[in-house]
Amino acid sequence: MTRLSVNLNKIALLRNSRGSNFPDLIQVAKDCERFGAQGITVHPRPGERHCKFSDLQLLKENCTTEFNIEGFPDRHFLDEVIKVKPHQCTLVPDDPTQLTSDHGWNTIVQKDFLKEIIAELKSNNIRVSLFIDADTTLIEGAANIGADRIEYYTGPYAKNFHTNPETAIKEIKETCVFAQQLGLGINAGHDLNLENLKYLKDNLVQLDEVSIGHALICDAIYLGLENTIRLYLNKLA
Ligand code: PXP
Repeated sequence: MTRLSVNLNKIALLRNSRGSNFPDLIQVAKDCERFGAQGITVHPRPGERHCKFSDLQLLKENCTTEFNIEGFPDRHFLDEVIKVKPHQCTLVPDDPTQLTSDHGWNTIVQKDFLKEIIAELKSNNIRVSLFIDADTTLIEGAANIGADRIEYYTGPYAKNFHTNPETAIKEIKETCVFAQQLGLGINAGHDLNLENLKYLKDNLVQLDEVSIGHALICDAIYLGLENTIRLYLNKLA
């Protein structure tokens, strides 16, 4: 089974644009779950333009499915995550000014930095996933430093999907077998949508979770949130 975790960044962005609590992030998270989503993801960035750190505890208290917090692990982020204790923390190597995540970790160069952080999160019973590109050396590096899962950065897959799906998925498909043999859980995220999701799911030996925000929320403008979540779940069935 592949879980659908809805990334609520865009809902938080909409809320923040008016300085009030509308739309209510917590209510939207609860509604996503009611409509069938099996997880909720947020990405608190240092400038808090999306989710705010003050949202985390309320989300944890109100969500009944899997709660995933993603982000760059500076000290403040780690302290907040450890306070809230989500089910999963996805570490992402983005800098504070980045528009959106656009690459995975270099698990070789940043081995010592990551190893310590992964150990700290795991000692707090938080599962750790590393955002990563489809490269066997980097995936092996993730396993060696204790990551529980990897999250494939699917931006390049999504970009090339329309030209040639087979070529677009090749590296993820091949490295996924290797990751599974290493005992890593496998997540995927970025630019996944109703067109490219099923092909990804059907071509991987294992896919534990997808985290989807931008396209899903955009689709919901036209199709409604309940209907949209159902359509995404159908692609994963
Ligand atoms: N995974 C990670 C690590 C991300 O940073 C994001 C974007 O916040 C996503 C998944 C979701 O990407 P999208 O919004 O394109 O669905």
